Amino acid sequence: MTTAVYPGSFDPLTRGHVSIIRSGLVVFERIIVAVLRNPRKDPLFSVEERVQMIREEFGDTDRVEVDFFDGLLVDYCRKRKVRVVLRGLRAVADFEYELQMANMNRHLEPSIETVFIMANDAYFYVSSNLVKEAARLGGDVSRLVPDSVARRLREKLRA
Ligand code: PNS
Repeated sequence: MTTAVYPGSFDPLTRGHVSIIRSGLVVFERIIVAVLRNPRKDPLFSVEERVQMIREEFGDTDRVEVDFFDGLLVDYCRKRKVRVVLRGLRAVADFEYELQMANMNRHLEPSIETVFIMANDAYFYVSSNLVKEAARLGGDVSRLVPDSVARRLREKLRA
């Protein structure tokens, strides 16, 4: 049974992330969505809120677990005894960063492999940062994020 860790900031979860996870479930038996708790990045949503939003989206399947981590991704994978990291690839701009990260992770722990899944073309240019920026400026991002995320974004930005 192959389990993959799908790490990220998920601030917030987008439909691009959701489509990567759903595609990942075609390949992997289980996916652990691992939310990076990174205070330095000054996220819009707390780690608890980010975890909760992902759970709301995948509550119907026990093949998706949502967790959070601090520190090195490879340490988290070792702790969870998982040897596959799943990442999504969007436009070419992602490639260099993802290559660097995969190589760094391989350097740190050669037994862990990174597997990439191409993002659905409908969400090729969707990123959490652009979603936040557009939402902050009053743009309608409701088709780019799950409904519960759109609601929470509205609440958060109203506050
Ligand atoms: O969604 P993001 O922000 O592109 O995800 C990046 C993430 C969380 C996968 C990456 O920053 C990460 O793994 N951070 C943990 C620290 C680490 O292991 N760094 C060394 C590998 S570059």
